[in-house]
Amino acid sequence: MKKLSIAIDGPAAAGKSTVAKIIAEDLSYIYIDTGAMYRALTYKAIEESVDLENEDALIAILSKSMIELIPASGKQLVLINKKDVSSVIRTSNVSNKVSIVAKHAKVREEMVLRQQKLAKDGGVVMDGRDIGTHVLPNADIKVFLRASVEERAKRRHEENLEKGFESDLENLKAEIARRDKLDSEREIAPLKKASDAIEIDTTSLTIEGVVEQIKHLINERQ
Ligand code: C5P
Repeated sequence: MKKLSIAIDGPAAAGKSTVAKIIAEDLSYIYIDTGAMYRALTYKAIEESVDLENEDALIAILSKSMIELIPASGKQLVLINKKDVSSVIRTSNVSNKVSIVAKHAKVREEMVLRQQKLAKDGGVVMDGRDIGTHVLPNADIKVFLRASVEERAKRRHEENLEKGFESDLENLKAEIARRDKLDSEREIAPLKKASDAIEIDTTSLTIEGVVEQIKHLINERQ
């Protein structure tokens, strides 16, 4: 069977990673969470007290940072220079700053190169904001997930509580709306549905429902 490249884009907390992980596991494909790569760099820049508006300083950090995404029983570990940052990159401190780091052209250029390298052999499910438009413009399947801000904040809130993290629904709503705005309005590779992507509004769908729709698209292409 042909090894497909599957691009899943959409705004913050639209369920991309949950769905992408299930599909990747199902097909024994590699799952690449590109948001985790931007988050890992943001974490490291904060740790090194770098001005997040300073593109050259960010690039200097990125060039000496090895970011690894390692599958581990249904989860994905995120390592930066071998340090496990899987949990810390999900804290609101990183979430609130990652879009500043991700707006810089040179940062994106390097991240896109790394992502394309990871995906070069196909058999990959990649999620992010610019996968269908820039990273894998020739992906076999492109999906764009949408959901209302309220629904996305509610889901993230429940997920946080389940993991035992502190969580405030109103703060989450504000954070998600702010991140959507920054990601959609930035100059370079903004969050945008690729013209050939299939849009799925997940607001009133279950995870299984979304997975089913994507599997249907996969079956059509194989
Ligand atoms: O997917 P996640 O919400 O973890 O992504 C965190 C942030 O990383 C996004 O809000 C966006 O600023 C940035 N990002 C990006 N391009 C991607 C993936 C993520 O700009 N392909």
